[in-house]
Amino acid sequence: MKLEEQPDLFRRQLQELYNAEAQITLAMPRVAARSSIAAVKSLLTEHLEETRSQVLRLEQIGRMCDCSCSGVRSLGMQGILAEGEEAIGCGGDPVLVELALLGACQKVEHYEMSAYTMLRELAIAGGLSEAIPLIEATRKEEMAAAKNLERAANSLLARTKPDPVEVS
Ligand SMILES: [Fe+2]
Repeated sequence: MKLEEQPDLFRRQLQELYNAEAQITLAMPRVAARSSIAAVKSLLTEHLEETRSQVLRLEQIGRMCDCSCSGVRSLGMQGILAEGEEAIGCGGDPVLVELALLGACQKVEHYEMSAYTMLRELAIAGGLSEAIPLIEATRKEEMAAAKNLERAANSLLARTKPDPVEVS
């Protein structure tokens, strides 16, 4: 990889995100299918639909910048999803398995939040004003998804707390 000018970095970030979103689109149905909680399943299914729109936004940005979105593999997302695969294969306490799935999904969203923040800052610095609202729309969706996953995990975690010890 050779980064000579700022647009090179913007293109590279765009391509990484495009591939990351493609990997997520393939993986998310398996995670949703593994969850045994209806609210988590619908949260993931709704975010999958958002993710498909996010892929289209990235393609739109690629056309604006006259650059191809493909050609790069996101190794970061590959690693995070490999951990997610481990969570999918977990057995044992159903609440803990669910928490492992939610933890893996939260890692995905936090990766995306930081990547879209970087892309937005590069777009601002590079004067790509048309791309900024598209990037920001996706970034906000990722933040909302992360928050929803966190809420779901917290309510499950409350169930795993030991009963308070009674002091007489
Ligand atoms: Fe996402």
